[in-house]
Amino acid sequence: MKVFLITGTSRGLGQAIAEQLMAPDHLLLCISRNRNEDRLAQSDNVRHIPFDLNETDRIESLMQTVFDCLDQSKLEGIYLINNAGVVAPLSNVGSGDPGAIAANIHINLLAPVLLASLFIRHTKEMRIDKRIINISSGSAQNLLPGMSVYSASKAGLDVFTRSVGIEQGEGPGAVKIASVWPGMVDTALQQEARTRDSGQFAAAELFHKAKESGMLTSPERMAGKVIQLLFGEMEQGSVVDLFG
Ligand SMILES: NC(=O)c1ccc[n+]([C@@H]2O[C@H](COP(=O)([O-])OP(=O)(O)OC[C@H]3O[C@@H](n4cnc5c(N)ncnc54)[C@H](OP(=O)(O)O)[C@@H]3O)[C@@H](O)[C@H]2O)c1
Repeated sequence: MKVFLITGTSRGLGQAIAEQLMAPDHLLLCISRNRNEDRLAQSDNVRHIPFDLNETDRIESLMQTVFDCLDQSKLEGIYLINNAGVVAPLSNVGSGDPGAIAANIHINLLAPVLLASLFIRHTKEMRIDKRIINISSGSAQNLLPGMSVYSASKAGLDVFTRSVGIEQGEGPGAVKIASVWPGMVDTALQQEARTRDSGQFAAAELFHKAKESGMLTSPERMAGKVIQLLFGEMEQGSVVDLFG
């Protein structure tokens, strides 16, 4: 049995990853606020854990409950996919809502850092395949006005990934970790960026043009690439650009 802990599975890239990971010997633990009403909801091997990752002070008890309920005797591999993310606030930081700024850093950076930390702690004694994929973004490097908080959170996630890779190394019991840049994927997050009022978010037009010119990848195609990396030769602590 392989266990997959995946955040942000109610739509978009996370939903596509979860759907493609569905298999008789895979148990999927899916964390998001909203529940799926489709294939994921109908499988006995998929459990939805309703949780708001903005509530970072509850993550420790969430992970305790998850690991208390796991039957470790049949475990061959355990995987954490930190996918949940928000793009707001899409505005210059001087006009960003403080609550939205804090939520962005909580959901995009603090929550995955805490989940990774607790995943490593709870799996410390397990001598099985253990891997973490952090869904980051090329926005960590490619900067646009109105996306400073998003870019900062994703850059932080990449630096965290590289640092943890150094900590874990290659020895027995090491957790493999990588950050992934999925490029532009046709999801609600992209729609939010291109439909934002261009008076507040000047780059909206750029996102609009990307959609119009067919530059967006489908969530299903990108999910396939993420899963290929997850089961393949993951370079420890790497930041991988999967676009193109
Ligand atoms: N789409 C792109 O072009 C693109 C490009 C680069 C990177 N990415 C990254 O890819 C990842 C997935 O994005 P997406 O495009 O699939 O976005 P999406 O369609 O908006 O989906 C975001 C997912 O994150 C979950 N989420 C958001 N806030 C949450 C919270 N407070 N607590 C728990 N879950 C929460 C949502 O679930 P609930 O609302 O049900 O909670 C949803 O399932 C993100 O990390 C994003 O930064 C996307």
